[in-house]
Amino acid sequence: MASITIRNLDDAAKQALRERAARNGRSMEEEARILLGGMTAEQPAQSVTRSVPGELTNPANRIPVSQGGNSANSALLGKVILLVITGGIASYKALDLIRRLRERGAKVSVVMTRGASEFITPLSATALSGEQVYCELFDRIGEHDVGHIRLARDCDLVIVAPATADFLARMAQGRADDLASAVLLATRQPVLLAPAMNPAMWNNAATQRNVSMLRDDGKHIVGPGKGEMAESGESGVGRMAEPLEIVAAAARLCDTRPKPLKGFKAVVTSGPTHEPIDPVRYIANRSSGKQGHAIAAALAEAGASVTLVSGPVTLRDPDGVATIHVETAREMQAAVEAALPADMAIMVAAVADWRTQVSAGEKMKKTEGKGPPALLLEENPDILKGIGHHANRPRLVIGFAAETNDIDKNALGKLDRKRADWIVANDVSAETGVMGGDRNTIRLVTRNGIENWPQLDKSEVAHRLVQLIAHWFATNTVEV
Ligand code: CTP
Repeated sequence: MASITIRNLDDAAKQALRERAARNGRSMEEEARILLGGMTAEQPAQSVTRSVPGELTNPANRIPVSQGGNSANSALLGKVILLVITGGIASYKALDLIRRLRERGAKVSVVMTRGASEFITPLSATALSGEQVYCELFDRIGEHDVGHIRLARDCDLVIVAPATADFLARMAQGRADDLASAVLLATRQPVLLAPAMNPAMWNNAATQRNVSMLRDDGKHIVGPGKGEMAESGESGVGRMAEPLEIVAAAARLCDTRPKPLKGFKAVVTSGPTHEPIDPVRYIANRSSGKQGHAIAAALAEAGASVTLVSGPVTLRDPDGVATIHVETAREMQAAVEAALPADMAIMVAAVADWRTQVSAGEKMKKTEGKGPPALLLEENPDILKGIGHHANRPRLVIGFAAETNDIDKNALGKLDRKRADWIVANDVSAETGVMGGDRNTIRLVTRNGIENWPQLDKSEVAHRLVQLIAHWFATNTVEV
């Protein structure tokens, strides 16, 4: 349904949607869904207003909403990618990669080896890229002989996906006996390789030698991952990275934006915690982890080295972030403390306040006539409070406050009690749809004032917060 609607948009609208989706690192369908969702939201976007004067009144500190939605994927907007497809069973995935790159606003030129055209046809690659596909080193007859030097130079990034064992070996030797290898030898642009082969071939000392030589030569490698192979019954490391992982790696290589948090270490918590009642039941809450994960991703994009401690969520681990998966509040606390020292801690998780005194070792059974069991609870550690008072306290400690009433009063109370520097307060009443939703309306509470933000996508909230964090470090504590 959504794709039919997009297909029917006029070209200008389609382009605007494509650019917006690229900026936000989403597919066009996803962006359209969020846009439509936003139109039905009650609260219209508004400019930043303040209720109390303070450090955030400085106009230099204001962030235009239009800058808020950047994600690493927007780095691909307008970039020219030369995709070299070599011949392996994973070649078919390169077709999806072309689509994903174009969705993010990149222009994709394709070079295919002879081997690749045994698996997919140049026609499919042409249809998906919308560009002529190049296969031969010397094409004197057609009008397509643009020359390997021009192909190698007229791009921002070269991706080889899949990169077979043979192609890696030939690259490591500096061979140039077909168009793909000649382009790789001639290019001065960054090169991203996505190896794909049988695990025995990947683990072979010769392949490992070649890969290590290519790394030393400055080539970037994404994957391979672990999984089932095309050969039945075989599994191990050798599967090509998924197209979205390759896209994320490409976006990082094309990202030329400033990295104001380079050299800074951040620890972020996200998602709910699950407190077991017995092996099958647990106490939890409605947190999706979307806001915490978006903040971790935005910090990484700004150059920070990020440890994300995540409770159980259904989200993908953010790219470029070290993600630690935990279940309970106590596990989360241990992981956060192990991540210290850090320059900043941003505690976004909706930590369960209580756990059961005893977690049954076996599933609790209903016993006729006995009635339901009483759940005796005890308090969980307050992770934010512990960090705020820690001997190794990060310089900037930010908490969240999920409230359904008296937002400012409760948030200010948490600021003091937990010794946080800022509290990001939000109304999580059921009717706001914040818990689990894609948008958030927050109030940034500091000791100097409270700032109302308009309703924004959670990724926009994340980018806005990260800009403020970068500004805080730049102006108050460190020289960049
Ligand atoms: N928090 C925490 N550990 C807890 C409870 C909360 O680290 N055991 C953190 C949250 O990650 C958030 C902040 O404290 O940054 C506030 O969480 P919130 O759930 O709003 O407040 P609570 O302290 O749980 O208080 P209440 O539930 O009474 O509002």
